[in-house]
Amino acid sequence: MKHMKLKKLIFIMLLSVAFISCKKTTEANQSNVEIAKSYSEEDLYRPNFHFTPKKAWMNDPNGMFYKNGYYHLYFQHYPDGNTWGPMHWGHAISTDMVTWKEMPIAIYPDDKGYIFSGSAVVDVNNTSGFSKGGGQPIIAMFTYHDMDGEKAGKTNYQSQAIAYSLDEGQTFTKYSSNPVIKNPNIRDFRDPKITWDSIHEKWVMVLAAGQKIMLYSSSNLKDWKLESDFGDGIGAHGGVWECPDFFPMVVQGTDEIKWVLLVSINPGGPNGGSATQYFVGDFDGKQFKIDPSFEKDLNSSEHKSIWIDYGRDNYAGVTWANIPDTDGRKLFMGWMSNWEYANVVPTETWRSAMTVARQIELQKVNASYRLLFQPVKELTSYRSTKFKKESIAINGDTKIIDSKAIDLSSTEINFKISDLKDKGFTFKLTNKQGDTLAFGYNNSDKNFFVDRRKSGKTEFSEKFVNHVSVAKRTSLNPDLLGTIILDKTSIELFFDNGETVMTEIFFPNSPFDKLSIEPKDQEFVLDSIEIHKLNFN
Ligand code: FRU
Repeated sequence: MKHMKLKKLIFIMLLSVAFISCKKTTEANQSNVEIAKSYSEEDLYRPNFHFTPKKAWMNDPNGMFYKNGYYHLYFQHYPDGNTWGPMHWGHAISTDMVTWKEMPIAIYPDDKGYIFSGSAVVDVNNTSGFSKGGGQPIIAMFTYHDMDGEKAGKTNYQSQAIAYSLDEGQTFTKYSSNPVIKNPNIRDFRDPKITWDSIHEKWVMVLAAGQKIMLYSSSNLKDWKLESDFGDGIGAHGGVWECPDFFPMVVQGTDEIKWVLLVSINPGGPNGGSATQYFVGDFDGKQFKIDPSFEKDLNSSEHKSIWIDYGRDNYAGVTWANIPDTDGRKLFMGWMSNWEYANVVPTETWRSAMTVARQIELQKVNASYRLLFQPVKELTSYRSTKFKKESIAINGDTKIIDSKAIDLSSTEINFKISDLKDKGFTFKLTNKQGDTLAFGYNNSDKNFFVDRRKSGKTEFSEKFVNHVSVAKRTSLNPDLLGTIILDKTSIELFFDNGETVMTEIFFPNSPFDKLSIEPKDQEFVLDSIEIHKLNFN
């Protein structure tokens, strides 16, 4: 009898153990299923507020102009695949450069070739004569890339062409006498960017040619005269020069006007692969001469160059044309990827996003000139929940906030550390999977850094994680101000009012749900941190 009871007890115990463990596995399976289900590619990686095409491949921003309340963004697009292919100009419009509406494809390839990068302007005075009814035509200028010519081993397979739009940039008609600039036997000869030069009253266009920039001018956007070239022995030359931009800017707080030349380069960026350098100087209507103070800075800088962004994911960026004088801003957007791995990042439906739109300012800094980049102010109108803390003593890994309080994948963060001197710090974004994105300031080498080596999916490219990106701090300001723009798969860091910028992408296995900060060597006080949830519903 006793024996029977014991047996029964053992049986019941075994049964409950089996039940509990079975329940546990089911729960674990369920939660795995939940993870797999709730984190589709769309959920996990489609940015909340950075522009992506609905589907397929995208690279450089093209043809950006503003007219009648709309910012237009065209982009290098291969609509039939998720890697680079026959290039079209995709199209999107926005009233604030933050929320975009994708439009039908604007320019298709044809028997002259793929439609490579270029620009668009509003021909306010109809200098081109394309408008017959007194309207203002939009003129797009792009590079024809003749694939057959390239395959046949020719060098002259890139030429410049124009197309006009009489319906505010929705549809374009290619000019019947294309190309407007034939290839002078230069292999890399592309990416025309036009600016109306109101000082010399003519159209000015810059073109990348090998590792130089060619400057052209025109009175009617059809006939182009080569004026000069720029770039021999100046700046970084680790790769081919691409996607230039050239425009005058007033030096902030003065009447002085300087010309700015942006030049993208691939490879040869400060942290590997694609990046964009810039030059500040003077333009007499024919020739661009770099300012001696800026040239001195270049020569004493690490790569003989100064970069608009030291992160690895801001390439081929250019500025909007036709921003009204009443606004007066210089507005910029870049492609948030890098040719080292753009084709293999872990998204399938679409590939690549753009940076947030940024305002550029030109400032006199330490007897020379610097461009400062900041997110456009329009982004602040999406602020909702706000979290603010002041005077936090940082003496170990200190949690700032978790995603229960604010969804960290859609945030603007502003922080201040006064009297930076020898203070070093690491911010960490983490999730339950153990993924970490680390970024901050290293006081021993005076470098800002972004470390995505353990940020989630990285195995798709060794180059994605082969080192920590760094940027030397150049500001002499004793206090450090920083702005962080976070989306699901990107971080944009604006230090010292945008004097040093770092933009990088990442692919966590689940959303980052905690932000913490730790000191490097010694404890310090984080004067203030303000976190705004950005709401796009
Ligand atoms: C830059 C670039 C341009 C070219 C385009 C082709 O990323 O290589 O020079 O026009 O991409 O898609």
